Amino acid sequence: MLCIGGPYSSCMLAAVLNLGVFTAAAVFAGWFGLGVLLQLWAMLQDGGCIMMVDAFLQAALYYCYGRVGWMSTELEKIPMMINVSKTIKSATLRILDAFVDSIFQFVDQPVLPSQRNFLPVEEIGHIVQIEGIVGEIPADFPEGVYIRNGANPLWGGLKSAISVFGRSNHVWIEGEGMLHALYFTKDINGNWSFSYNNRFVESQTFKMEKQRNKPSYLPALEGDSPAILATFLLNAFRFGDVNKILSNTNVFEHGGKYYSIAENYLAQEIDISSLSTFDDWDLCGAWCRPFTSHPKKAPGTGELVIMGVDAVKPYYVVGVVSADGKKLIHKADVKLERSTLAHDIGVTQKYNIILDYPLIIDVYRLFRGGPIGVMPRYGDADSIRWFNVESYCTFHILNCFEDGDEVIVRACKSNESIIPGPDWGIDKFKWFSKGFKPLSTSTEEEDDNGSIKDGFLFTCVNEWRLNMETREVKERNLSGTEYSMDFPMINEGYTGLRCKYGYTQVIDSEASSICGKTKYGSLAKLYFEEPDSLASSKGHFGNPIKMEHHKFAKNNFCTGSAFVSKLGASKEDDGWIVAFVHDEDTDISHVIIVDAKNFEGEPIAKIPLPQRVPYGHHGAYFQTTSQR
Ligand SMILES: [Fe+2]
Repeated sequence: MLCIGGPYSSCMLAAVLNLGVFTAAAVFAGWFGLGVLLQLWAMLQDGGCIMMVDAFLQAALYYCYGRVGWMSTELEKIPMMINVSKTIKSATLRILDAFVDSIFQFVDQPVLPSQRNFLPVEEIGHIVQIEGIVGEIPADFPEGVYIRNGANPLWGGLKSAISVFGRSNHVWIEGEGMLHALYFTKDINGNWSFSYNNRFVESQTFKMEKQRNKPSYLPALEGDSPAILATFLLNAFRFGDVNKILSNTNVFEHGGKYYSIAENYLAQEIDISSLSTFDDWDLCGAWCRPFTSHPKKAPGTGELVIMGVDAVKPYYVVGVVSADGKKLIHKADVKLERSTLAHDIGVTQKYNIILDYPLIIDVYRLFRGGPIGVMPRYGDADSIRWFNVESYCTFHILNCFEDGDEVIVRACKSNESIIPGPDWGIDKFKWFSKGFKPLSTSTEEEDDNGSIKDGFLFTCVNEWRLNMETREVKERNLSGTEYSMDFPMINEGYTGLRCKYGYTQVIDSEASSICGKTKYGSLAKLYFEEPDSLASSKGHFGNPIKMEHHKFAKNNFCTGSAFVSKLGASKEDDGWIVAFVHDEDTDISHVIIVDAKNFEGEPIAKIPLPQRVPYGHHGAYFQTTSQR
């Protein structure tokens, strides 16, 4: 069983591409089914069977080793492929489709009761006015739209494909991107109204699969090795890509335009009024590679710092986009020696912060990561200063800033990655359940029976202080061992600058271990400049800081939280946290608004939504008037 799934980043495309090398090597030699496929393909090419088989093998290996999306034009350069007419190609595709339809059967994956709100919903079809708000929206709350992105699989849910090759499964992150939007509108008399809409992000592959009106891409991320290889190749040759374009992770604004993103592809422009999808954002052809889900606006200049990781060289490229969003003004290959699945990039006033982390994809497992790099804003590989730190897994940076000779990096850190390696065995539910349990007090990585300790997915807010002069590194856990937290957010006006406060979603370890997927049962506010006076009595180690908690009612869980700054704010925490919260007992979703200055108090408002909003990824609040 080859398993590389997990409820996280779509960077797993890169994982499967590298693991595909292993898979191919492991099963290629004795796998007669592939031989049948090869002969089928060859017979379709109107003669020259042997040469075409050779071309097919070259192409197959090419696909196995590298990314496929932008490689299709390169593939067409293979000499034996050039003379294949469109007619023959079309006929070939039809026969391959028939082959897939006759051999593969799509079946629904089982869903536990505790997993129901991970199931997809349909598009509601129009903007719906909302009544029944509880509480009041303050006058200094900005008009705007709160949008959250997330995975929402087509065809009713995640599928498995069963065939003579075995079984392969979609994993949770493979759902198509769906945007859920709540609009906050105020009339000239100051009266608020609210409306909701949701729409798919219409990627190229979304439109293609809708046109075919049936599941088309075979699951290729998790399952039996022969099945993975078969689905991998069949997807590649039928569609030119191993997997779909899934723009399902985040939304962001730059230069007055708005984008949906997942880091295995380019950002796609969206219309936040209608939630329509526009074109890919390739910066006039200057950026034709993956694009991070977490670009950062540089303090002072307003330029957008981006990066893209890939499974083939160049593995990690940093870019800087002009403040107006029209031009890529800097691009540098970091020249890493192997692919890493970095999900986030940090900025300070002068530097870009590169986490050479969190995962190194290897044949046997996913190792924890490596050094942290500090790169001048317009630097190159030679100008990066690398700092060796304790091994870590980090998906999300909370903030970075400079303090004298030091560069401070604050981020969410766990001992293991939520994206597991092939060694996680056949029981992923058990694997997740063990990982989500509260952190073990032991520092040993394995228990007496040689199995990994409970709580290996426990995530804290960690601080690294990197001295640019002495190269010294100081590291500490800021949030302790009681609360596991991720999806950090700050007042974005402080990105790259010293900030006093941070906010996170807190994992409900018990609910998550029962469900086998992450559920967030509360929010936390972190006071970076105030030590926790009760730390010793709470059993914390190190010097954890003061934290406050906003706990939801039982069986209520949030996603997509974001900070909304108050109009005319004078202090960093003048604002609110907004979050999509689902009540699993009533099956009703709300958007809640929590006062950042009265964090443990009741929400100032709860806005009921006209339909269930499944758990998803990141959200953002975009002001839509000139009140900014
Ligand atoms: Fe993320």
